[in-house]
Amino acid sequence: MDRIVIRGGRPLEGEIYVGGAKNAALPLMAACLLTDETLTLTNLPHLADISTLAKLLSTLGVELHMNGNGGAGGSSGRVLEMTAGRIADTCAPYDLVRKMRASVLVLGPLVAREGLGSVSLPGGCAIGTRPIDLHLAGLEALGAEIELKEGYIEARAPNGLTGGEVVFPKVSVGATENILMAACLASGETRLVNAAREPEIVDLANCLTAMGAEIEGAGTASITVRGQSRLHGARHEVIADRIEAGTYAMAAAITDGDLHLVGARGEHLRSALEVLGQAGVAVTETNRGLQVRRANGRLQGTDAMTEAFPGFPTDLQAQFMALMATAQGAAMITETIFENRFMHVPELARMGANVTVHGASALVRGVERLTGAPVMATDLRASVSLVLAGLAAEGETVLNRVYHLDRGYERVEDKLSACGADIRRVPE
Ligand code: UD1
Repeated sequence: MDRIVIRGGRPLEGEIYVGGAKNAALPLMAACLLTDETLTLTNLPHLADISTLAKLLSTLGVELHMNGNGGAGGSSGRVLEMTAGRIADTCAPYDLVRKMRASVLVLGPLVAREGLGSVSLPGGCAIGTRPIDLHLAGLEALGAEIELKEGYIEARAPNGLTGGEVVFPKVSVGATENILMAACLASGETRLVNAAREPEIVDLANCLTAMGAEIEGAGTASITVRGQSRLHGARHEVIADRIEAGTYAMAAAITDGDLHLVGARGEHLRSALEVLGQAGVAVTETNRGLQVRRANGRLQGTDAMTEAFPGFPTDLQAQFMALMATAQGAAMITETIFENRFMHVPELARMGANVTVHGASALVRGVERLTGAPVMATDLRASVSLVLAGLAAEGETVLNRVYHLDRGYERVEDKLSACGADIRRVPE
């Protein structure tokens, strides 16, 4: 497996194009199953998770055509045409679901369109147990019958789904997306209560609306969907990746650099930008994106707690911890979304960070300087937090198991080296 080698200590300066959002693209791709016409997505990021879902869709009978550069403003985003003229198979196999949990997003569209869908039950994962009970309860509320058979969840609705009220006992991004898609082809009206409010949900709703769906309230906790007998094709541009943008904002801050994040949208990152502001990072909105640098001198230890949108995103927690590791004073970082999402702590400690974990909170006492070390990560955001730490550390950091990084960050080493970082990929 490839490694990334970083020699730290160089401030990042220049422009970085923020790509299309992985977490928006995945549900948008699953939405192609809702129509027999062509759904075209532009500004699609080039990432391993996108290829995994493309493989799954092709197994289900979707015809896919991926074309070159279609990104906005010079990004490398691609154009993907998907046509689910006929669904050849309604089962998402173990091999693909195991690789990527978001595969479960095909379940809602499959049951809604074919009256039948099955997905391998995803096993445990590096950041907690991550069950899919909320997805299943939502489909049941729309009349599906759910059964567990030999490790597969089978959902059946031979006479189609029926609109109803779906009350989520806990906010879930994936379950909201799954049920939102399914409700578009259910008969009658569906109301989602305590729905997730992430920008990716709004993006999905916009695309579904372009496909002929009737949706109100996306971006709020209460979404109403009036079901249609069929949806049609559409063309839709994937929104910019707020997590990639937030990550590079922290890269600018940790290296005491100055980056223009082209395509980044402040309104998708409010709470993170507020916390960064308190920590001493100056973020200015420009007409093309966000300009990020330190306000003055060393960063200040600042607390953060992860919450569902519009709160501080759990997907930026590890990166923020790397940033706080070199700040002046202490920071308390609390993770409320996922259990077991502090796997980066022992690795950051190998680079000299001073972090103590108490349950769901980590107390980070800032140190003067981190030092390079060989490190390894077991999940996507943990990996990139080690890249950030490496950019700021004295000496050489070698990041092993780059596979995780490639799932969510496109050409990370190219984007960073173009801004002055000493970073390279060493193929195995
Ligand atoms: C999505 C994002 C992921 C992000 C997360 C939280 C994608 C592809 N992934 O993941 O990057 O970290 O939102 O912002 O968009 N839960 C249940 N039962 C369920 C579903 C979820 O208990 O059926 C729990 C989870 O274990 C977790 C919490 O609900 O503790 C939130 O998870 P959820 O919002 O569903 O995350 P994902 O959609 O998997």
